[in-house]
Amino acid sequence: MNPPVELGKDDVPGGAPGARPGAIPEDARRQAETARAALAALRGEVAKTVVGQDSVVTGLVIALLCRGHVLLEGVPGTAKTLLIKTLSRALDLDFKRVQFTPDLMPGDVTGSLVYDNRTAEFEFREGPVFTNLLLADEINRTPPKTQASLLEAMEERQVSVEGSARALPDPFVVCATQNPIEYEGTYPLPEAQLDRFLVKLTVPVPTRDEEISMLQRHASGFDPRDLSEVKAVAGAAELAAGQAAVRTVHLDPKVAAYVVDLCRATRQSPSLQLGVSPRGATALLATARAWAWLSGRDYVTPDDVKALARPTLRHRVQLRPEAELEGATADGVLEGILAHVPAPR
Ligand SMILES: Nc1ncnc2c1ncn2[C@@H]1O[C@H](COP(=O)(O)OP(=O)(O)OP(=O)(O)O)[C@@H](O)[C@H]1O
Ligand SMILES: [Mg+2]
Repeated sequence: MNPPVELGKDDVPGGAPGARPGAIPEDARRQAETARAALAALRGEVAKTVVGQDSVVTGLVIALLCRGHVLLEGVPGTAKTLLIKTLSRALDLDFKRVQFTPDLMPGDVTGSLVYDNRTAEFEFREGPVFTNLLLADEINRTPPKTQASLLEAMEERQVSVEGSARALPDPFVVCATQNPIEYEGTYPLPEAQLDRFLVKLTVPVPTRDEEISMLQRHASGFDPRDLSEVKAVAGAAELAAGQAAVRTVHLDPKVAAYVVDLCRATRQSPSLQLGVSPRGATALLATARAWAWLSGRDYVTPDDVKALARPTLRHRVQLRPEAELEGATADGVLEGILAHVPAPR
């Protein structure tokens, strides 16, 4: 399962019940409300091209609010590319896509120095990481050296060439896809690298009804290459206002303790050989806070934490081989932990 899907429902959350007036200046509050409404409108815009996949859209918006990177997992042909392209258009962000192949070099991702005959000097030619939304397709098809160049850019938000650092644009979010069925000839990302992704979203095959409505759209002339219908309903300014507002979302010490208890439980689980790191705990707090804000609240609830636990933690745990043989899954183990660790009330 992915994050909850309420983002963009018709009843866009307005005034937050239980909000504490006076905690934030009035104009910042109004700006945040405008940003929230704009971000909520994204789902409607994306729905012009993609049928369903609402929780993937919500997960991507949460990642943008947290300035985090996303792993997308889904079988081929489930509209991953279409979704990211549409979202970047609806957010008025620059979009680039890189197909990770076995012969891709680090410089093909980050950019490289090229000799300019006219000036007789080396000039830096920017690679595709110089964008806002980067779709890194099939990241595990490329050898570790090239993977590392992307992961370094993700972490540092800059590219270093010959000792000088070049900042990447803001926002800069990588959506990396992995195909869940093919393992042959791939280079799985090491655990330490997976931890750098804020969330892992699964892109499900559409339901029967969704697939029928998709076919009907195609039959009535929809062309997935033509996104001119999609309008920019939000942009970098709304994301920045949202990010600022998320930072003001109140955290009760009991909810912080709940996040920690969940993460500690993964470290003690007999089914796992690797539990969630402290970095994972901070990630869960961040996504839960962003979700709280998107839902129109200025405080995090244990339910926010529960809603984001699987997408935020599933790629940060590693099953024991025995458990895997018995059919255990990361989501299943996390579900068990969510059922057992007492939530504050
Ligand atoms: N949920 C959906 N809504 C609308 N169209 C869809 C949906 N799922 C698949 N499609 C159709 O399938 C096509 C393939 O989608 P797309 O290329 O985005 O898939 P992908 O997940 O990126 O595949 P790959 O893993 O091969 O890159 C789309 O152009 C669209 O026509
Ligand atoms: Mg694709």
